[in-house]
Amino acid sequence: MENFNYYIPTKILFGKRKIESLGKEAAKYGKNILMVYGKGSIFKENCYGTSLYEQAKKSLEEANLTIFELPNIDPNPRIESVYAGAKLCREHSIDLVLAIGGGSTIDCAKGIAGQAKYEGDIWKCYETKDPSPIQEVLPIASVLTLSATGSEMNGSSVISNLSCNKKIGLTTSKFRPVFSILDPSYTFTVNRKQTASGSVDIMSHIFEQYFTPDHGGYLQNRMMEGVLKTVIHYAPIALEEPDNYEARANLMWASTWALNDMFEKGKIPTDWATHQMEHELSAFYDITHGVGLGILTPYWMQYVLSNENQHRFVEYGKEVWNLTGTEEEIAKKSIEKTREFFTSLGIPAHLKEVGIGEENLEVMAKQATQRRPLGAMKKLYAEDVLAIFKMAL
Ligand code: NZQ
Ligand code: ZN
Repeated sequence: MENFNYYIPTKILFGKRKIESLGKEAAKYGKNILMVYGKGSIFKENCYGTSLYEQAKKSLEEANLTIFELPNIDPNPRIESVYAGAKLCREHSIDLVLAIGGGSTIDCAKGIAGQAKYEGDIWKCYETKDPSPIQEVLPIASVLTLSATGSEMNGSSVISNLSCNKKIGLTTSKFRPVFSILDPSYTFTVNRKQTASGSVDIMSHIFEQYFTPDHGGYLQNRMMEGVLKTVIHYAPIALEEPDNYEARANLMWASTWALNDMFEKGKIPTDWATHQMEHELSAFYDITHGVGLGILTPYWMQYVLSNENQHRFVEYGKEVWNLTGTEEEIAKKSIEKTREFFTSLGIPAHLKEVGIGEENLEVMAKQATQRRPLGAMKKLYAEDVLAIFKMAL
């Protein structure tokens, strides 16, 4: 196991009606709150009889806090929303940026909290993937409404700039929320497509850290198999019974743990090639992140599988899918099982099904690898990425 430091200061308030603590928690950071939310799900009546918007507002007002709002954050959040939010923060001396929504809203809130305290253009930090110029950020908090990204407890923010077809993640510990409210009941209203793609995203975060060329990380690998089995067990239940609390609760906690840095500790280098490739798809075609991952992942697995790394697929096949046979058979079958599972959730298997043709494959492959080759299981250069995109067509 490699050396590591471990420090995750995000306070988690998990469970039913935890929103009632929102005001009290938020008040610890000051008086002026910028509430950032998406395109409308926040206004729908939920299982508590009113909307999340009303519930959050009530709790904040009871704590005598002043609320400012930035609505309409897009899925695949835009840099323009980051600038607009930062402007509000400066105008109203905001003390806490509160995201209420899924990964897009939380990621946008992180960008806002960074830009508000930074004189330069934060997009340059995203472009160079270099957070070092950002010395200070406003405190960030979240109320999570969709189980997928792990943004509720991690330091990553993924922002799109459609003017140059770029979608880029920036990671800094300064972006970790100070607290996150995780009430699984809020995810009862997440539709089939988002439930499925969120579940694929959770699994993909695990794959990116599980499929590493090393032989170490025994403990981390067993924990990650637990998360994979949890998603494989509960995602179909959540699709059939959207208000099954146990299913939604397991998916929510799985999403948080799949990407809060815990599992990669001691296991570096991790892979992340599939995510880098998917970010090109959503930068050019604005598709749903989990759908892009679901299409690409089994092709990536087929492409990178080799004699040297077969043992990782054998472990995955045996531990997660209970497969038997020769090592070669298990490795191949584990990839088929992955595709079958994604298909059972309603995730397409081809890029053409989401409107992606050959037109931009080369430029996406080049852009994905312009900083360095992708991946750790197998180093992927532009021609490899192009080959995977073509397999996925
Ligand atoms: O905008 P609203 O009306 O809220 O609707 C959203 C949106 O249309 C809806 N939704 C959210 N909660 C809901 C709900 N609908 C009904 N009931 C609810 N309770 O779902 C749609 C998708 O929301 P979004 O926030 O985009 O989904 P997700 O959480 O999957 O986030 C995806 C974004 O996060 C990035 C992705 O690339 C993508 O931009 N990622 C962020 C990561 C991170 N910060 O660590 C890592 C990930 O790998 C990923 O790249
Ligand atoms: Zn992801």
